Amino acid sequence: MKISKRAQAVPPSATMAVTSRAKELKAQGVDVISFGAGEPDFDTPAYIKEAAIKALKAGRTKYTAAAGIIELRRAIATKLQNENGLKYSPDQIIVNIGAKHSVYEAMQAVLDAGDEVILATPYWVTYPEAVKLAGATPKIIQTDRANSYKITPEQLKEAITEKTAMLLINSPNNPGGFTYTPDELAGLAKALEGTDVIVLSDEIYEKLIYGKTKFVSFASLSDDAYSRTLTVNGFSKAFAMTGWRLGYTAGPVEIIKAMGRLQSHMTQNPVAFAQDAAIAALGKPADEAVENMRIEFERRGKYMAERLNSIKGVNCQEPTGAFYCFPDVSSHYGRNINGSKINGSMDFAKALLEQANVALVPGLPFGCDNNVRLSFACSLEQITKGLDKIEKWLSQ
Ligand SMILES: Cc1ncc(COP(=O)(O)O)c(C=O)c1O
Repeated sequence: MKISKRAQAVPPSATMAVTSRAKELKAQGVDVISFGAGEPDFDTPAYIKEAAIKALKAGRTKYTAAAGIIELRRAIATKLQNENGLKYSPDQIIVNIGAKHSVYEAMQAVLDAGDEVILATPYWVTYPEAVKLAGATPKIIQTDRANSYKITPEQLKEAITEKTAMLLINSPNNPGGFTYTPDELAGLAKALEGTDVIVLSDEIYEKLIYGKTKFVSFASLSDDAYSRTLTVNGFSKAFAMTGWRLGYTAGPVEIIKAMGRLQSHMTQNPVAFAQDAAIAALGKPADEAVENMRIEFERRGKYMAERLNSIKGVNCQEPTGAFYCFPDVSSHYGRNINGSKINGSMDFAKALLEQANVALVPGLPFGCDNNVRLSFACSLEQITKGLDKIEKWLSQ
């Protein structure tokens, strides 16, 4: 069968082996504790669902404007103004079919063959693939634990060449669970001044920040940052709406228009009645619904990090954002646990699943083989049970 070179070049998901094995074990009746989830375990708040039902009953079942209905783009503009201090007109905003689609489409609109895109480890697995699908080349900056996995302005300056077309920033970070401080982001913004580098700032975990962490939108840092930034955000994580497929991009009007042209031929509009629900999501009751989920995530993340750090040879930063712990477990590499040689994060995840029936995600596909990712989008009871098992397994 003929398969395009483009499709052939997309590797199967490196996390898939663990996920499908976990499913297999579950089907066999094994009690598997899963820390693999990349989505909130809460249901979409009722007021949002009701808005979608109302829209369906009102016949909102037809095509809409490809970039999304003007009412939603206005609501997003108001949100960006009030919460992020960003002034965008509706023609600077496009609604996409999830933030994953926003990232893909933005890259299709901006990048050409030969362009380089700077991204730092740990990175969300989709980024390098989206860069390559746009014909460009990922230029990976390796970060380390000593720097809390963040890039410095010096590292950024060093990585920029005449080929650099884009810098990807994801704060709060998946899988790292860390958040750049406003000062750290300002340092990066300064390092870009005088260049033509476009920034794609993926702010999907904006609402999920913990402790004294302060979130700031990259585009709000300066006029220069504003003029070069595509702000990507969406409804999946903050409003527990992963299945609704709603994301958006705000930025320079020329790029948003180019994305709109692509979108009109690729997917047309996001689901019509989901757009009405998105307007409701951004409305008044949002604050309380989102805050309740945030408080629960904060409690779980703190507990998970504490427990992980109490395990010998495990080092975990307390998460300041998103819903992931990303501990360094590399001091266990080289060991043989119950006949399984642990030579990296893939071996670690595989052996843990087979021997202790706990599923987590290896760090290798995120560019950090020293680490593994544990999602705390699951109950405190599951977290306690799973960590008891990990502790026992590693103490052998
Ligand atoms: C960093 C990051 N960006 C974007 C997304 C995509 O979100 P959406 O469900 O809106 O496509 C995810 C989802 O896992 C993510 O982790």
